[in-house]
Amino acid sequence: MSRRILAVLGSAVLALSMAACSGEGAGSGGNDSDKPGDLTIGVSMPTQTSERWIADGNSVKEKLEAKGYKVDLQYAGDDIPTQSQQVDQMITRGADVLIIAAIDGTALSGQLQAAADAKIPVIAYDRLIRDSPNVDFYVSFDNYKVGVAQATALLVGLGVQNKDGSKGNASGPFNIELFAGSLDDNNAHFFFNGAMDTLKPFVDDGTLKVKSGQTKIEQVAILRWQQEAAQKRMEDLLTSSYNDGGKVAGVLSPYDGLSRGIITALQNAGYRGDMPVVTGQDAEIASVKLINDGVQSSTIFKDTRLLAEQAVVAGESFLQDKSPEANDTETYNNGVKVVPSYLLPVQTVFKDDIKPVLIDSGYFTAEEVASGQAKG
Ligand code: BGC
Repeated sequence: MSRRILAVLGSAVLALSMAACSGEGAGSGGNDSDKPGDLTIGVSMPTQTSERWIADGNSVKEKLEAKGYKVDLQYAGDDIPTQSQQVDQMITRGADVLIIAAIDGTALSGQLQAAADAKIPVIAYDRLIRDSPNVDFYVSFDNYKVGVAQATALLVGLGVQNKDGSKGNASGPFNIELFAGSLDDNNAHFFFNGAMDTLKPFVDDGTLKVKSGQTKIEQVAILRWQQEAAQKRMEDLLTSSYNDGGKVAGVLSPYDGLSRGIITALQNAGYRGDMPVVTGQDAEIASVKLINDGVQSSTIFKDTRLLAEQAVVAGESFLQDKSPEANDTETYNNGVKVVPSYLLPVQTVFKDDIKPVLIDSGYFTAEEVASGQAKG
């Protein structure tokens, strides 16, 4: 009890001293200087097990440092207490803005309260932070459209629909299975909703059949987006629902890491030339190689360079005591308020799109695609 009181007093003192340093404005945390070199941006990323978050972290850091800011970049190893502690430390070390990609969207409200008390603006990066009034801005992609794009890529891969949206030659019925991301990630729900709204008419008219019967997000979600857990679930599905000789024709997968686990399970069960249509997300280099080799069907490319740029633009606005420009002020209700957002568009990548979308834009080189390894 006494420790709690001390902690509360501590943060009140901290908040007062921060307010004293930064004057009365609504602006940034622990510094009244507006010289970039005197300002620190805390950047909290969820994990280094997925290449996209490494790219995100590096891009944000490089872009901020190029403008002269100091950057405190931390990765939390997909461990919620570690992320809470890292954000706490950023606040006590005097961060002026926080950019956070949360592991669990509901687990940081204590830290965000401390940030608000210290007048530190918080930008939710790609993943919305929920259940807190203290999220000032959100930068992400159009996450519902990611789900629509994934489901559309599945339909196109199966030949049910053509790329231009017209009706394809194939009519099924096709056995498919569904996967979703981590339930504590707000995005996982947007992806799944977008996908299911798109697939529903084809399930209803019998073109697609979810043979396992598992169609609810709670049944198909993979905690922490783990590749091994997706492989295990696919193995279980093959044993439980496809032991009658039935074949899987397609798998809705929301993330390349999960897709690789799913593909491994399918390969171990003997699928080769008859590999089902497997979707993905993030254009991770190992999966881009699989698409190039005709093993994975598609991915959704989200240009993390552009997302990092938006985070930097929003961060700078806060540092200049301005509100960042939003292009969506309706969609992202975090349970307490609608968080003003800047959403970026996404692109579907099939094999034919690798060169124009990923190589010509400088995201990967042709050598990286061929080897399946990014040189960084
Ligand atoms: C991101 C996806 C990513 C997933 C797993 C989501 O929050 O929006 O791009 O695939 O997390 O890391």
